[in-house]
Amino acid sequence: MIDEKGLPADEVLAEIRALRALDRPTHGGRLFAYVYDPAVPGLDELTAAAHAQSAHVNGLDPTAFPSLLAMENALVAAAARLLGGGPGSAAPDVVGSVTSGGTESLILAVKAARDARPEITAPRIVVPVSAHAAFAKAAHLLRVTVDTVGVDPETLRPAPADVAAAIRPETVLVACSAPSYAHGVVDPVAEIAAVAAAAGVRCHVDACFGGWTLPYLRRLGVPVPPFDLSVDGVTSISVDLHKYAYAPKGVSVLLHRDASLRAAQYFAYADWPGYTMVNPVLASTRSGGPIAAAYATLRHLGDAGYLRLAAATRDAVTALAGAVRDVDGLRLMAEPESTVVCFTATDPDLDLFVLVDELTARGWHTQPQLRHADLPRSVHLTVTASVAPRVAEFGPALADAVAAARAAGPVRLPPELLALATSLTPQALTPDVVAGLAAGLGLGAATPAPSLGAETPAPGPGEVVAAAPERMAVVNTLLDAAPPALRERLLVEFVSLLQRPAW
Ligand SMILES: Cc1ncc(COP(=O)(O)O)c(C=O)c1O
Repeated sequence: MIDEKGLPADEVLAEIRALRALDRPTHGGRLFAYVYDPAVPGLDELTAAAHAQSAHVNGLDPTAFPSLLAMENALVAAAARLLGGGPGSAAPDVVGSVTSGGTESLILAVKAARDARPEITAPRIVVPVSAHAAFAKAAHLLRVTVDTVGVDPETLRPAPADVAAAIRPETVLVACSAPSYAHGVVDPVAEIAAVAAAAGVRCHVDACFGGWTLPYLRRLGVPVPPFDLSVDGVTSISVDLHKYAYAPKGVSVLLHRDASLRAAQYFAYADWPGYTMVNPVLASTRSGGPIAAAYATLRHLGDAGYLRLAAATRDAVTALAGAVRDVDGLRLMAEPESTVVCFTATDPDLDLFVLVDELTARGWHTQPQLRHADLPRSVHLTVTASVAPRVAEFGPALADAVAAARAAGPVRLPPELLALATSLTPQALTPDVVAGLAAGLGLGAATPAPSLGAETPAPGPGEVVAAAPERMAVVNTLLDAAPPALRERLLVEFVSLLQRPAW
């Protein structure tokens, strides 16, 4: 990897280009997860230039780099204004921090809530089962217990009464989503915040996913219930700029209704011989790159840009949902109310995991979701503005993929594999069993590195790129059959097989 003499810049870039060719297409409106593409000409170039200007700036010390502090404070103000805070609003004293992403924002919301109640020795949080997995991660890292509240299988929302019943004296935070990632539905925020406030507990609204679009959708006439700082009892809210604010990855904003609520989010340390340290977020050294890129994105797109992008997204959602409705054997999990289209199969002969593979084979990348409690397996589409010009092509592709999935028939796991998935305990999963499973499923197989072009050196011996198989239906069926604890263990083992040094 470290070349003896070092390579010319154009060769290095050619290598990265060749590697990037292995990836799913981040642009072009055919990838319905992981990426948020507004398809605005020139935006990538602008954000790359902004990122480069601030990449070496360190957010560790805001007094040394006031440029970064100024941009952070501007991003926090923009997010706050959008989400019901700022001068003249119901939350005039709102403060916030820029974090690296939604997960970090949620970890910090839980940390602030936990550390504000030091007298509680065994803190707990109440979270709908539909809330993002990052709450479970936060609870795990912070040693907080999660009390999960179920959702109605029809509305996919938690009942405020169930949230109220789950609150205990040790509860430090109640959370809800606006909207949820899996199904794109907005929880009854006002009612949940009210029961939290009545119990004297903080309430965090996870608007990481769609918080940036909801206010614009509302302006376009979509009925969006109150979900932000305008709601009494909402003490904090998070929104990811690297999602629907269309900034490059690495930026989210966590807002608190006032500074006293944020205080316990900070970590300061002065009891060592080095520099005094005060960190508002998890990282200490922080690149200014993502923050500058987000700043550039917001400045460039502007309010009118976001309104136009939200309109394009809404139209794309309507068209995609219509395409799903037109297919016999598919059902929308919920009527779309934000930027997600999520569907399930009503016909046992139509295997959704096979359908996902068939769509992939046709260049449409959707996201399979495993069954959970009462909820069936489903297919998730995160819809962004870039999809709008392609929607007319989706219906025929979906119909074609459905026909192919029906013709192929459902995945039938070999009985021994099915028995393994349903009976194995996570503890019984030895390295040998995992290796056997992975080999059987075609996982962890190393594929040769891509051709790097005539002018670049051939990959050295053993230089390979690990990859998952093209068709994932069997893997997904196995995971779907396993209980969550075994799923988790299998996922860790499978990904660990992929993460090997490229000698
Ligand atoms: C509702 C919600 N919260 C939190 C997250 C976590 O965000 P990140 O992946 O940026 O850490 C996501 C990511 O999709 C999300 O949809």
